Amino acid sequence: MAHVGRPFMDYKPPAAAPVWAVIEGLGRYHVLLAALELGVFEALADAGATADELAGRLDLPVGHTEALLDSVVALGLLDRVVDGFMLNDAARRYLLVDGAASMAGLIPVAPGPHENWTRLADTVRSGRPATPIDDDPAAFYVPLVEGTFTTMWRCATRADFRMRYSALAAPRILDLGAGGAPWSIAMLQACGDGRATINDLDGVIDVARRKTATHGVADRCEFRPGDFHAVAIEDGAYDIAVLGHVCRTEGPDGARHLVERAHAALRPEGRVVLADYFVGPNHKMTPHAVLMGMTMMASTVNGFGVTAEVASGWLRDAGFEAIRLIEPIGFQFAYVASKPRD
Ligand SMILES: C[S@@+](CC[C@H](N)C(=O)[O-])C[C@H]1O[C@@H](n2cnc3c(N)ncnc32)[C@H](O)[C@@H]1O
Repeated sequence: MAHVGRPFMDYKPPAAAPVWAVIEGLGRYHVLLAALELGVFEALADAGATADELAGRLDLPVGHTEALLDSVVALGLLDRVVDGFMLNDAARRYLLVDGAASMAGLIPVAPGPHENWTRLADTVRSGRPATPIDDDPAAFYVPLVEGTFTTMWRCATRADFRMRYSALAAPRILDLGAGGAPWSIAMLQACGDGRATINDLDGVIDVARRKTATHGVADRCEFRPGDFHAVAIEDGAYDIAVLGHVCRTEGPDGARHLVERAHAALRPEGRVVLADYFVGPNHKMTPHAVLMGMTMMASTVNGFGVTAEVASGWLRDAGFEAIRLIEPIGFQFAYVASKPRD
């Protein structure tokens, strides 16, 4: 009877922290963008600095500079000791342009065109973004694949520990929607006698031409520009087919078609690599993948989140076996599956 007359005495309302975290999300992202755009991380790379000194180095007003630096400290991406600001390990690794795992080029482009987020309610109402990236894919994908290259190349090199592509003799690789060709480059670097057929859209494939040249493997690549749904592909010719982050923009039918094309292109016992951010099986446990699906919905005509169940179903239905999920580096997942022996 303790609650008679005071029924809610013991009720503690939930904290507003999750709501504040969302409100601050916009500001947090723009703080990081501004710091990158102003060259804050490179300016602190050799030696820490006070706000005064950094403002001098970058020719900025001191008060605004200090406010920005303190905000980056609040994000956990710089350290402040008394008046001195300095890079921490995360900033050195991910935010320097030539950091070991640089995401500096990825951060501005990863959410897709920023203005599409401000029109999300309209996109949900109408079922289509007003200005999808499909209208001008090269304008969006060229900076995207430049920005994602380092992360995807690291992922592709580490994938060798799980799939041992380096043990293949003279493998033939097919890379559909290759972007900067991080998977082909990693595989060709590991297999001195391998060859790759690299596909992407006309306006984007020059990124692959450039990246394969700077990584010294261009002479073992054939470039095949065009729509990956229609471009000519030899049957039964390849040891590895790569579908790297291409399925989630295609809609279920388009994605199935790409998986079927990969299957047809492989020789018996050849393997497909299907990399994406897979949702589930419990959506709550994979918020990164759920939000990546939303990024697709905000900016593409057919884009959607790919669940692990659906992706493995495409592979099974196309005829693949030995389907397994690997995580070569944190947050990067790929299904690897084999075409059965004849
Ligand atoms: C998210 S990027 C992935 C790039 C690369 N595979 C990777 O894993 O880093 C998607 C790529 O698919 C390409 N793409 C999109 N639609 C395409 C189409 N219809 N035909 C060929 N390539 C396409 C884009 O130009 C872009 O390079």
